[in-house]
Amino acid sequence: MKTEFFDLSGDGRNGIIEKAARVIRSGGLVAFPTETVYGLGANGFDEKAVLSIFEAKGRPHDNPLIMHVADLDMAAELGYLNEAFYKLASEYWPGPLTIIVKKHPIVNDIVTCGLDTVAIRMPSNDYARELIKAAGVPIAAPSANRSGKPSPVTARHVLTDMDGRIDMILDGGACEVGVESTVVTVCGETPTVLRPGGITPAQIEAALGSVRLDKAVTQMLPENEKPLAPGMKYKHYAPDCRVVIVEGKGAVNYIKARLAEDENACAMCFNGEEAVFPRAIAYGEEGNSVSLAHGVFAAMREADGRGISTLYVRCPRKDGVGIAVFNRLFRASGGSVVNV
Ligand code: TXA
Ligand code: MG
Repeated sequence: MKTEFFDLSGDGRNGIIEKAARVIRSGGLVAFPTETVYGLGANGFDEKAVLSIFEAKGRPHDNPLIMHVADLDMAAELGYLNEAFYKLASEYWPGPLTIIVKKHPIVNDIVTCGLDTVAIRMPSNDYARELIKAAGVPIAAPSANRSGKPSPVTARHVLTDMDGRIDMILDGGACEVGVESTVVTVCGETPTVLRPGGITPAQIEAALGSVRLDKAVTQMLPENEKPLAPGMKYKHYAPDCRVVIVEGKGAVNYIKARLAEDENACAMCFNGEEAVFPRAIAYGEEGNSVSLAHGVFAAMREADGRGISTLYVRCPRKDGVGIAVFNRLFRASGGSVVNV
């Protein structure tokens, strides 16, 4: 399959989005920008098209997809929208928040992997919402990376993973947030964050009065335990090399010592620290979680293909969006954290 690549920043934007919407309606796959990461979209009502997402990504068939909508009417078609849903949607939609509700029968089991719930998100990226509107159907979309690789935050990243596997890539520039949406379920008694992301737990608590963090957010679950968001069980987001997170006061010295022992080891550090280490990739400003979220996936992708043995990562602060940054690094490391 030939993958067509289009830049949305030029004059032809409307025509390109129309063309992409036609591809979606006729069962094809289109990668498109969102404010979080690039998505790999198909018509959410077309079973065959949705199946081809799993194929193109190499995604396990027990990991459900998010339905992307352009307005609340589309959301109401998909699931039972309760009071908590409306409170969150009115505060944070459009934006980097995915809300899980009980599904309506119209949603195919292929999308939800047989669960009785559906994940819905209204992205704030204009191109994304224009595409959904033009397609006229909800767009089922996971992140547009090959399964297990770091999520793509530029159209080039998508091309690296998906060239020849999908119909079309829309280039809308670098993603603003840089980590995926927060996934929250409002199906139970207490709203629960299943995956931290662009909207912080504190923001959810502000809207709903309470919030819980699923334990899969900060821990690797034992083999026999199933997380509430199936995606959280996989080693994930990882570059080709081993990843080790280093936290504590001795982190810089510890990483320096490891790099002295192993000439293929590399530091993933904060901006301005590059000169401290013989080999380093910086991922954002220390103490600035928004900046680290923006850089974390791009830095991990930069590590790919360089023959790096181990990437020693300076640990982000675990507050605000920092929880999401830590969660992605934690998954990439398979739970390997050193405290020094
Ligand atoms: O920011 C984002 O959310 C991006 C952009 C493209 O919108 N999408 C994204 O999709 O990250 P994906 O497929 O990579 O991650 C979706 C996560 C997975 O962890 C999946 O298990 C979980 O959401 N999920 C989807 N439907 C669910 C459901 N009904 N119940 C529990 N978890 C669900
Ligand atoms: Mg993903």
